[in-house]
Amino acid sequence: MISPARAAAPGKVILLGEHAVVYGQPALAVPVAGVQAVATVTPPAGPQAAAGLWIEARAIGRRYRLEAARPADPLALAARLTLERCAPGAPPPAGTLTIDSTIPIASGLGSGAAVCTAAVRALAAALGRPLPPAEVSALVFQTETLLHGTPSGIDNTVIAYGQPVWFVKGQPPEPFTIAAPFQLLIADTGQPSPTRITVGDVRAAWQQAPARWEAVFQAIGALVREARALLAAPAAGGGLGRLGELLDRNHAHLRELGVSSPELEALTAAARAAGALGAKLSGGGRGGNLIALVEAPAADAVEAALLRAGAKRVLRTMVGAEAQ
Ligand code: MEV
Repeated sequence: MISPARAAAPGKVILLGEHAVVYGQPALAVPVAGVQAVATVTPPAGPQAAAGLWIEARAIGRRYRLEAARPADPLALAARLTLERCAPGAPPPAGTLTIDSTIPIASGLGSGAAVCTAAVRALAAALGRPLPPAEVSALVFQTETLLHGTPSGIDNTVIAYGQPVWFVKGQPPEPFTIAAPFQLLIADTGQPSPTRITVGDVRAAWQQAPARWEAVFQAIGALVREARALLAAPAAGGGLGRLGELLDRNHAHLRELGVSSPELEALTAAARAAGALGAKLSGGGRGGNLIALVEAPAADAVEAALLRAGAKRVLRTMVGAEAQ
């Protein structure tokens, strides 16, 4: 028997360090509360009681029984893992797990990890066994592996913890300090970001010429370390202007890795030309989203330039404001 429950999870952006993070370099990522996944568990009404657990994924218009789910279904895996963890040995309870999400799919904003995080949280709560962030993150990591092949774990971590994280694969995440909140524009290319494919292509390149690509990963790691110090003490580190340069340099390394795209190049260039302090793709790349660092007076002009250059939509987020 389950109780009604509801849980949410935010989207995320990676500030710096994607791809290199898969190879042990640090990355910085922050939650984006302006987009969310929400999961609701509803117990059955009367005679439906024997009908098992149904999953209703509204964003993709699907409703199916857990037992009949495809093996590669991440939401079904999230539900099974949660049931094993919170009600070991018991048959799936009767009821419906409904998922809604405003996070664009395959866009680098962590939609896959967020819907699974919301599902795990809601189901655990419905079973009377709410789980702490570390356990939610560990369960969702398994759904990320199903979706992306060899993920670093950064998406499930930042989304399950819901706070800015300094992430190194295989180590406990560290929340990091943002001394002065800053504004990012998150612009959607409208092209899907095939994370499994870009991660696989980077792996293939690295296997062919490990020393060459290790050097790029290390250069990205050095930018991430400098950014962390700068975010903790902006004036000492050169301020937002320097952070913008670090974003630009990280983007150049991602281009070298082969994960940019003509759309990402056009949009990052448009953002810089309109006054952004820096811009880079964020997430798996070859599509999805880019981030542009802006000071308040330039925000409207940069947003307009991004839309003129073909962005499908632009979100604004204040990074670090949640801690104020
Ligand atoms: C995807 O959001 C970030 C990547 O670094 C992959 C990963 O870390 O698993 C591209």
